[in-house]
Amino acid sequence: MTAPDAGLHLSISNVSKRFGATTVLEDIHLGMAKGELVTLLGPSGCGKTTLLRVVAGLTHPDTGRVELAGRDITRAPPYKRNVGVVFQSYALFPHLDVAGNVGFGLKLRGLPKADIASAVHRALSLVHLERYADRPIRALSGGQQQRVALARAIAVEPSVILFDEALSALDRKLREAMQSELRHLLTQIGATAIFVTHDQEEALTMSDRVAVMYKGRIDQLADPRTLYDQPATAFALSFVGQSLSLKGKVVSSDADGSVVETSAGPLRVPRRFLRGSSVIVATRPEHVTLTAGDNTLTGTVVGATFQGSRSLVEIDAAGTRLTAEMPGRCTLPERGETVIFSWPLSETLSFSGEEHA
Ligand SMILES: Nc1ncnc2c1ncn2[C@@H]1O[C@H](COP(=O)(O)OP(=O)(O)O)[C@@H](O)[C@H]1O
Ligand SMILES: [Mg+2]
Repeated sequence: MTAPDAGLHLSISNVSKRFGATTVLEDIHLGMAKGELVTLLGPSGCGKTTLLRVVAGLTHPDTGRVELAGRDITRAPPYKRNVGVVFQSYALFPHLDVAGNVGFGLKLRGLPKADIASAVHRALSLVHLERYADRPIRALSGGQQQRVALARAIAVEPSVILFDEALSALDRKLREAMQSELRHLLTQIGATAIFVTHDQEEALTMSDRVAVMYKGRIDQLADPRTLYDQPATAFALSFVGQSLSLKGKVVSSDADGSVVETSAGPLRVPRRFLRGSSVIVATRPEHVTLTAGDNTLTGTVVGATFQGSRSLVEIDAAGTRLTAEMPGRCTLPERGETVIFSWPLSETLSFSGEEHA
């Protein structure tokens, strides 16, 4: 057991959970500072909701420990945790008006009426719904209901707020507007929050750090820029942003790196691997140029599209489809044309092919 860090606001350590024969969470460690916004990002079924439920007290872990604001809450019931939860289905009470919904948790705690009224007003002002206090829930749009759910969660001033796919039900335009608004609001009130999403753009927009989850484990926990520039695994690479990758075998290796023989040709990687091992070589589309360079390949153009600020060139290199991103104003090659293309060694990523095989 690693000891939880005393300086952390929320500390999840060694948490594992099985349902029957299935391991849903495996040795999860996550420490959060006060005021930090962290996203759990991963495909459906990787354990995101289960981890949130462990923090909320709705699921008990088989092993491990959860500490919040210096208190061990691993076995504490949900109502003794001071954790706020916002779900995708807002779970609002249809028979109560907006103020009744927002004040519900405060009423449960037995606060005096006047205190409830001022806390409700403050929470509704934060989400710009102060004029809707006496409206029935059914008279509100989806976006407004989402704000009521948020106001209800922040009204009790929780130590941490959990959002489970909370914006997924909104249409794209509203969702994007809510992302930056929510981030701004949470920063403003100094909230500590965990978001769950399978949408990588949402994760990059909303978070100080992102935990990429895969099959019950945290694959990588990093700030958005590090995650994009230095993905720790082939899964993190493929799940966040666009990338092009080729698989091959290491034919030589020295102190400076290795040469990987792929179906499209040999590629250099700045990392040392055992000769004969399987390696995935990758880069981001924006590092590719249609000239010779460190890692040069030849391919056939299968498509080229102008997209305004950028153009995308799709290339077939010995059967592997790769996408290169060019500046919007560049002269695009013709479909069927043979092109040489390259990317610098410094922008070459490599992963052991055995990882997550
Ligand atoms: N109460 C439960 N009983 C059995 N299996 C469950 C239960 N809750 C979740 N699971 C399983 O655990 C895995 C992770 O689920 P979940 O945490 O909901 O994933 P996510 O939120 O990332 O989509 C899934 O395979 C799911 O079927
Ligand atoms: Mg889920």
